[in-house]
Amino acid sequence: MKEHRIEVDTAKCIGCGMCRRDCPASNISITNKKAVIESQACIKCGHCVAVCPKAAVSMTGFDEPPMEFKKPTVLDPQQLLDAIRTRRTIRQFKNQPVAPEVIAQIIEAGRLTPSGENAQDVSYIVLKDHIERYEKMAVRFFRRLLPFARLVNPMAKNKEIDDHFFFNKAPAVIVIVAKDEINGALAASNMALMAEANGLGVLYSGFFCMAANMSRSLRKALGLKRKNRVIATLVLGYSGVTYHRTAQKETAKIRFL
Ligand SMILES: Cc1cc2nc3c(=O)[nH]c(=O)nc-3n(C[C@H](O)[C@H](O)[C@H](O)COP(=O)(O)O)c2cc1C
Ligand code: SF4
Ligand code: SF4
Repeated sequence: MKEHRIEVDTAKCIGCGMCRRDCPASNISITNKKAVIESQACIKCGHCVAVCPKAAVSMTGFDEPPMEFKKPTVLDPQQLLDAIRTRRTIRQFKNQPVAPEVIAQIIEAGRLTPSGENAQDVSYIVLKDHIERYEKMAVRFFRRLLPFARLVNPMAKNKEIDDHFFFNKAPAVIVIVAKDEINGALAASNMALMAEANGLGVLYSGFFCMAANMSRSLRKALGLKRKNRVIATLVLGYSGVTYHRTAQKETAKIRFL
């Protein structure tokens, strides 16, 4: 990661204090009607850049410039809820590839997801041309575990680990890696929504995460570093199944205090 420095163009600054009020680290003061960045050791959240009405604040070291916009984009709430309600985990996929631009847009949704302390610790492994190689390794690992799983989990009794146990012949898989579980999971959730907005079906493969985190050879093959964990695995493809109604869910447990 490149070094980021926050800079204030004092010629542009009018001393309005918007950046000071919005800074989560109390890292900005106003002196002689000009903003002063107290320390470069902040979380580099970029709020000072984003909020300044005069574009007087900038941060160095990013590959992209800030994008100007008039109003934030808002989603239609009912449409969003309907999309969440009618989406299903997809386990049957068409034999149809996913375009690289779609994969890139899904990853963009992950990249733009917030992270605790702005850590941006999430990374992505796209399995595309060698999906079967990684699935084979996971299958081998799970077949060795199965007898033990059958001892403790009644649901594993009838479970068979076939050659497509993890990815169900899907054409694309994105493995989401992070140091922090919440950061990885939030990115995964936004990515799944983006995939669905692109007309794709999504399967979260918790089993592949388990295999990738537990099997030393799979970790090595995926190039995982010691502190990195596979948080989510999105199995992606065009759905080979049509649903005619929703699947029922439990009522929300809510307490109003
Ligand atoms: C974190 C997570 C891991 C999952 N792992 C698997 C998996 O390994 N294999 C599988 O068939 N389904 C997996 N699922 C799918 C769930 O079984 C599914 O979301 C749940 O039954 C509800 O169905 P729905 O998504 O269609 O509403 C996973 C879902 C989540 C959120
Ligand atoms: S980047 Fe964020 S934390 Fe740092 S000075 Fe700007 S607003 Fe404050
Ligand atoms: S928001 Fe911009 S103009 Fe206002 S004090 Fe901060 S740097 Fe200056």
